[in-house]
Formats: sequence, C-alpha cells, structure tokens
Amino acid sequence: MNAYLADLFSLAGRTAVVTGGSSGIGRGIATALARAGAAVVIVARGEERVAETVHELTEAGCRAAALPGDLSTRAGIHAVADAAAGPFGEPDIVVHSAGINIRPSFTEITEDDWDATMTVNALAPFLLGQRFAPGMAERGFGRLIHISSQQAHRAFVQSGVYGVSKGAIESLVRSEAEAWGGTGVTSNALVPGFVLTPLNARLQQDPQKVAELAARTMIGRNGLPEDFAGAAVFLASPSSAYVTGQHLFIDGGMSVH
Ligand SMILES: NC(=O)c1ccc[n+]([C@@H]2O[C@H](COP(=O)([O-])OP(=O)(O)OC[C@H]3O[C@@H](n4cnc5c(N)ncnc54)[C@H](OP(=O)(O)O)[C@@H]3O)[C@@H](O)[C@H]2O)c1
Repeated sequence: MNAYLADLFSLAGRTAVVTGGSSGIGRGIATALARAGAAVVIVARGEERVAETVHELTEAGCRAAALPGDLSTRAGIHAVADAAAGPFGEPDIVVHSAGINIRPSFTEITEDDWDATMTVNALAPFLLGQRFAPGMAERGFGRLIHISSQQAHRAFVQSGVYGVSKGAIESLVRSEAEAWGGTGVTSNALVPGFVLTPLNARLQQDPQKVAELAARTMIGRNGLPEDFAGAAVFLASPSSAYVTGQHLFIDGGMSVH
C-alpha cells in the first residue's frame, strides 16, 4: 500500500472484535479488516467455524484469534465483553455482525422469539458498545460498526421482530454517535440488501424468489460477503473520522426504488 493510501485506510496496529465473524457478511468484514492490518478477534457460537476462520486468516499472514461465545443471553454477552480484550488488548473497532432471522409468520411470533431476536440483534451491540466505547473515547479513537437491514426501512419476506431489531440498531447508531461525539469514537451502520449467506439459506432454495430479489437491485444481482470489504475498511479507518450516525447502503441500489 502506498503511504497516502496507508494514511487513509491502513488498520495496522488496530485491534478489532467482529461478532458473527465466522460466517457470511461478518466473515467477509473480518477478512477485510485483518488484511488491512488489524488484529481481529472472531466471536460466534460454533467453535469449528470460528477456528476455521482464524486458521484461514493466520494462514494468509494476518493476526486473528478465536473467541467462542453466545450472544443470545445477557450472561453470554457479558462473558464475551469480559473476554474480548484478552487476545490483543482493548479493541479500537467493534463490528456487530452476529444476527439471527427466524421468520415465523407474524401471528405466531412468541415472546421467546422476540427475546432471542432482540437479544442477539440489538441488546448485544448495545452492551458491547457500552463496554468498549468508554476506553475508545479515552484513547481518542474508536469505531462502532453495525449491520442493519432493508427491513429497518421497509417490510418484506416476513420482517416481523427482525425488522424491529434492525430499526433499533439504526436508532442505536444515532444514539451512540451523539453519546460519543467529539471523542474520536464514531458509530455507523452498513445496510445490506439481500446477501447470499447461510442466514437466508432457506429463502435461497426458491430460485424464483432469489431472482426476484436480484431484479429489485439496480446492479442486477444479489450481494456477496466480499461486497462489504471496502466499506467496512473505510468505516474502520482514520479516513471516516468525520462520518458518524450514518447508514451506508451496500445493496446494489435495492433501496433506491
Ligand atoms: N444476508 C442478508 O441478506 C442480510 C441482509 C441484511 C442484514 N443482514 C445482517 O447481517 C448480519 C450477518 O448476517 P449473515 O447473512 O452474514 O448471516 P450468517 O452467515 O448466518 O452469520 C451470522 C453470524 O452470527 C453468528 N451468531 C448467530 N447467533 C449468534 C449468537 N447467539 N451468539 C454469537 N454469534 C452468533 C453466527 O455464528 P454461530 O451460528 O456459530 O453462532 C455467524 O457467525 C446479521 O446481523 C444480519 O441480520 C444480513
């Protein structure tokens, strides 16, 4: 990387925690941050996929560590918060990509569905931000990066409680931007369209639905995890210092109409 680009985008010497970093969008982002120089801690439940991701990154010459953890309970979230600084020190960047979308029909949503979805998708980002942002503010640099959804803006394919959780995330981004304004800590969200990941494996079994969703974009295809690499590096880097409280749509133009 030439010196000018390094000043803008290098993450050398930075530490990142990526929840959901073992799959899909989170894995794409963890790979991008690691390749841009950050030491990355991968958080998710499935130990095998976490270990595989760490192995792939270290094989590529990156610094990465595994932190198996479950963000679906308060105790689990606090355990991750306590352990995340272990491998590489306090994080400069936290990416919240862990998420679930269980899609029951609206009348069948149970209180347990509500609790499970809101805990992983909204409470975990809130609590992890509370844990790590004060240290970032003291050090004068921090990046909180959230993954929202089209469903924070419009209802389709059974938005249900998932859409509610993503609406909460977009408001959390604004609240965090306000809370940490002037400290060097920013909070922003990436807003995917329909991305081909294990999250929507069931939907992907219907080729007509997949084609219809691709047709709703301006680019003419559905998203891939690697589509998030450049935007994530930008939001994690020094060059985004004057960008906060924003939602950046990485959706092939799906949101434009
Ligand atoms: N794919 C899309 O079209 C799309 C669209 C809009 C928004 N998004 C959002 O993008 C984010 C990533 O989604 P994705 O499509 O990349 O999904 P994915 O491939 O299913 O990845 C989800 C990740 O979250 C982890 N995770 C799930 N529950 C967890 C828990 N209780 N504790 C800790 N980790 C947990 C998973 O690992 P384990 O299961 O092993 O824990 C996995 O690493 C989510 O927030 C999702 O809502 C996705």
